[in-house]
Amino acid sequence: MSDAGNDVPTWVFGYGSLIYKADFPYLERRAAHVEGWARRFWQGSHDHRGTPQRPGRVVTLVPAPQALCAGVAYSVAPAVFDHLDHREKNGYRRIGLALRFADGGTAQGVAYVAAPGNEAYLGPAPEAEIARHIAAAAGPSGSNRDYLLQLAAALRALGDEDPHVFAIERALLALP
Ligand code: SIN
Repeated sequence: MSDAGNDVPTWVFGYGSLIYKADFPYLERRAAHVEGWARRFWQGSHDHRGTPQRPGRVVTLVPAPQALCAGVAYSVAPAVFDHLDHREKNGYRRIGLALRFADGGTAQGVAYVAAPGNEAYLGPAPEAEIARHIAAAAGPSGSNRDYLLQLAAALRALGDEDPHVFAIERALLALP
């Protein structure tokens, strides 16, 4: 007899590379947002877009009472978390949160959030400085520049206006 509880799909909210790089099987993909969180390039990347010696900068969610963060929600089978936990292992932890789908309705889901104090955390910096940092970093998954540009393009495709991401993109594209 199968354990039905082990087959129940879970919604995973992606707000960074999970928006544009879905290298895992999913049952459904829906535009969604979470309230009370803001996307910030405050997490270091030792294993994807940088190295331990020269970390890249990637996004995490930070609590922000008035904010709303747009992304995509994937409905995934429990077995997919083996892959996702490995992919997001550099300082991210799964947290539960409430999702609102762009076409209506809500659901409980999880997101990978890198909290202050994790081994790769970098914290806030001026957006121009973040852009210079990103321009110079690369790791096993590719350049940090591509991470930023692909994220910005994916957010535009969702119709999202993220001032933090777009300001860093503008600053990076203006670099000599
Ligand atoms: C996410 O995309 O939801 C987490 C952060 C990342 O992997 O870029």
